[in-house]
Amino acid sequence: MGLIPDEIIETVRLRSDIVEVVSRYVQLKKKGKYFTGSCPFHHDRAPSFTVTPDKQIFYCFGCSTGGDVFKFLMLKENVTFYEAVHMLARQAGVAVPVTESPARREKERRREALHQINSLAKDFYSRVLQQHREAAAARRYLAARGLNRDAWERFEIGFALPEWNSLLGFLGREGYRSDEVVEAGLAVKNEAGRYYDRFRNRVIFPIRDAAARVAGFGGRVLDDSLPKYVNTPETPFFSKGRLLYGLHLARPAIREKKFVVVVEGYLDVITAHLHGITNAVATLGTAFTVEQGRLLMNYSRDVVIAYDADAAGVAATIRGLDILQELGCQVRVLSIPDGKDPDDLIRKHGHRFWEELISKAPSLIEYKLQQATGGGTVKTVAGKLEVMRMVFPNLAGMNSEVEKEEGLKAVAQVLSLSWETVAGEFKRFNKKQGNKWLKPDNFTKTKHNIVSEEEKPDARARAEAGLLRLILEEPSLGTAVLGEMGEEPFRRPSYNKIFKYCMEAAGRPSYRPVEILGYLEDEDQAVLSRLLTQEIPGADPVQIMKGYLESLGRCSRQERRKMLLNEISKAEKSGNKSLYSQLWREYLVLRVIAEAEKAGDRNRMENLLQEYRKVSGANDVGVP
Ligand code: GTP
Ligand code: MN
Repeated sequence: MGLIPDEIIETVRLRSDIVEVVSRYVQLKKKGKYFTGSCPFHHDRAPSFTVTPDKQIFYCFGCSTGGDVFKFLMLKENVTFYEAVHMLARQAGVAVPVTESPARREKERRREALHQINSLAKDFYSRVLQQHREAAAARRYLAARGLNRDAWERFEIGFALPEWNSLLGFLGREGYRSDEVVEAGLAVKNEAGRYYDRFRNRVIFPIRDAAARVAGFGGRVLDDSLPKYVNTPETPFFSKGRLLYGLHLARPAIREKKFVVVVEGYLDVITAHLHGITNAVATLGTAFTVEQGRLLMNYSRDVVIAYDADAAGVAATIRGLDILQELGCQVRVLSIPDGKDPDDLIRKHGHRFWEELISKAPSLIEYKLQQATGGGTVKTVAGKLEVMRMVFPNLAGMNSEVEKEEGLKAVAQVLSLSWETVAGEFKRFNKKQGNKWLKPDNFTKTKHNIVSEEEKPDARARAEAGLLRLILEEPSLGTAVLGEMGEEPFRRPSYNKIFKYCMEAAGRPSYRPVEILGYLEDEDQAVLSRLLTQEIPGADPVQIMKGYLESLGRCSRQERRKMLLNEISKAEKSGNKSLYSQLWREYLVLRVIAEAEKAGDRNRMENLLQEYRKVSGANDVGVP
């Protein structure tokens, strides 16, 4: 995989039509300047997904996912930026030379080096397990857990010796510096500046990503000591929340069986596969994330969660359920009898029993009902209402009416109520909630990635968004804004970032707002896409800008007045008379300005403002 010069990226972008690309996955309808459809990245009932061809971006108002055509492919096909550019380049007939862009090259080179280090380490650990005299205890441990040589090979299991630098020594001889090994997460540097192996005296499980590259490791102790597992630390290159253990092996079986089983641990996956249950993957003890959900959806939307039966497992199951449902998956829950995990269960009862449990796995609603009622009967009215309150949000999120109807039936049965009564309550619930439950915040307590960061847009937020939108289109106006308001004109940090890149990019003759996406992190990409989806109100940019600046000034003055009232009462309490009267004077001037403004007396207002600026000095409340 190589690096791609910016001009080539822009050429590929120009030659690819985002509407055409998105249409391969989403049915789009033209609505004025936009196309709309059902969002492919969350469970979307209203068509909240938009594509804006003149800006060549997409944005979903439901889940705040947004970006350019490359980003869309990255999410949909689960590929890297480079792969996405290559895919489109091929279709557009653009030849992609490899090289350039020092920053990107450096990042790619480091990633490549890390993968190489990881790959060498994996081989090293695996040789140690198979051959080293000091690995005898590990071999015995694995054998006792039913893992023979076949299993070691299939899962590339290894062993880290109980020494401080056997891996560092090996990698050093291979030509890698200690700090590179630290960066890969395989060694640690102590305060005295000495390096030592992170994994010592542990059974090693390599973790491969979906593209089958060795991304990191987990290491288990051989006894009951703690911590039970040590992992490669979280870095931009390794994040457990973006990986699923075993996915590269499970992929064909998931497609073939048309569903996937999600378990918690390494050993659960390994035992499952060894018993022919080859469609199992693990989340490695982290809470299920939206990224993992999206990863799975590339292979199947039918998901069975089989977490441990302990309290932590149940809590994680419920969170995972909500995330998966919201992404549009069908979820079932495999209930594992008390205190066991899939590893124990499969080894004790075998493949058959497992299949039986799968066929009996309750649906999401049935599972939640079980959890809500504790399996018993609910007698009181309050109790019944409480149960309904717990499961209605999920019912409302069901994909099909059939599913919903089945769910209502299940609720009615469990609560010994008539179908009509439950359906009536559900209707009332829907009316009362409106669309509220759809907000992920209300829907699930874990926020993860699908969080719409938009609060109620107050006047300042509206003006900031409008102003930045305008500057993106007419970057020459940015200089005026810089002059009036300084380097960081916006309250919102992502706006300042976008503004900065816009000012940098604007010098190029071919500047187009969409190019800025390439410099931004995921969240800021979504913010920019949302901005670009907005229309600019009116035709005279300078006039519009003045309007926004005025509105920002108004907000600042209002905020200042509020603050002054606070300070005034503090000064009064502390008896600081001179401060008290000074604050009062400022407050009164601001009041008079506000009144003049309200009355539409522009002249008077301008004069007052000028005076105010003189007395208040450098603060920004006089803008413009
Ligand atoms: P065994 O106890 O050997 O059967 O392993 P397990 O995989 O079943 O472990 P468990 O069910 O306790 O935990 C599930 C997963 O959570 C593990 O596979 C790990 O990925 C992760 N995990 C468990 N304990 C720890 C820990 O102490 N530290 C870290 N970082 N992860 C852990
Ligand atoms: Mn276990």
